[in-house]
Amino acid sequence: MNERDSEAVAAMLRARGYRIVHDEDECDILLLNTCSIRDLAEQKAIGKAGHLAARKRRQPEFVLGLLGCMAQNRGAALLDQLPDLDLIVGTQKFHRVPGYLDNLRAARAAGVPVGATIVDVAEEADSQNSIRDHVLADRQVTAFVSIQQGCNMDCTFCIVPKTRGDERSRPMDDIVAECRTLAQNGVREITLLGQIVTSYGRRDYAHAGGTTPFVQLLERLHEIDGLARLRFTSPHPRGFKQDLIAAYGRLPKLCPCVHLPLQSGSNRILRAMNRPYSRERYLELVAALRAVRPDMTFSTDIIVGFPDESEDDFAQTRELFAAVNYDMAYIFKYSVRSGTPAATLPGQVPEGIKEERNQVLLRMLEANSRRRNHALVGTVQEVLVEGPDRKGLRYMGRTPGNRTVHFAAEPRLIGELAPVHIARATTAALYGDLVPAGVES
Ligand code: 5AD
Repeated sequence: MNERDSEAVAAMLRARGYRIVHDEDECDILLLNTCSIRDLAEQKAIGKAGHLAARKRRQPEFVLGLLGCMAQNRGAALLDQLPDLDLIVGTQKFHRVPGYLDNLRAARAAGVPVGATIVDVAEEADSQNSIRDHVLADRQVTAFVSIQQGCNMDCTFCIVPKTRGDERSRPMDDIVAECRTLAQNGVREITLLGQIVTSYGRRDYAHAGGTTPFVQLLERLHEIDGLARLRFTSPHPRGFKQDLIAAYGRLPKLCPCVHLPLQSGSNRILRAMNRPYSRERYLELVAALRAVRPDMTFSTDIIVGFPDESEDDFAQTRELFAAVNYDMAYIFKYSVRSGTPAATLPGQVPEGIKEERNQVLLRMLEANSRRRNHALVGTVQEVLVEGPDRKGLRYMGRTPGNRTVHFAAEPRLIGELAPVHIARATTAALYGDLVPAGVES
């Protein structure tokens, strides 16, 4: 989400004549987009910004801005720690950044003393519609498209409703047009983004014949010529109604991998988190999705050490974690976010226990990943060729289940769906060879 927001800001700046440089030491303006989801993310941003502020003292014309969730969460109070910031811009004001920078530069050029830091963290109706423009690299194959901002769920651990505001969806026609343009520019795979994508458009569009607006959107995107794959993140387990489950059976471009945030496998903790489903319902959902697509893979988010999480609660998380056999999981130690209901709950779990539980799940995940990857050795996987890999030694692409594959290829194959024979696996990646045309069985 943050990457996408940053890209949209970069696109707006570029349209105004600013040039995006890739080396931090070469820039005249540096904007840090920030995350507040856990304390560690905030501490990292403060550390980075503090380091950059030193450069500002050496080079007074250097402009330093802090954008996004942390700006929204802390506003002008950030100046206590970071007095050198020129710009503090919240999550509903990304599109104001070019204007603020123009003003700042014009004032400096005219020799007008620039006074206080610009702080803009107000709400703005329809700001979700401004995350729209892209900075496509040459021959870019995959892209993110933001369909919604904000969240109305009120999970007790989470800062997002405060940093991202109420749930607001973009018009369906705008999203379809954006995706069509991306496809015309060579993009083959789109990942739809939102805090709770399954709630997309629920206040703006009627259900059509039992079909939710989110599934209506998937159906329309599915028809776009050139698009080969559709993904989305994050849904809410509650949002998986029959229509979405069935969509996996009839929309072949919908990749058979679902990110399904679990958070905890204990019903008692789920209730305390204000997550409106049970472990039983979650397992039913997984079974229903696997019934429609037997090759379905799952990833998840888990929080360990939520207040009052007992050994028994954690044992239930562990059991469910093993039962679902996740391909990928993001495991987090509960982080107190001030202003959220869980922050003041009794029974805060000691850091050492959080760490232990974190390690237990990480070890299970690693064993799963290794087993899964090794099971693919000897098979042929359909890979969407993205381009040279990071080391530049081979090409890389991903399977429908989102596993990264490295293989030798040629530039003409970028953007193609190619069969790759998997020869070797590590925990993190697969290695293989393109199957020459005509040889595929
Ligand atoms: N502490 C730890 N993890 C959190 N998440 C959200 N809030 C917190 C918190 N206070 C995790 C959840 C969510 C993911 C994006 O971040 O698992 O799904």
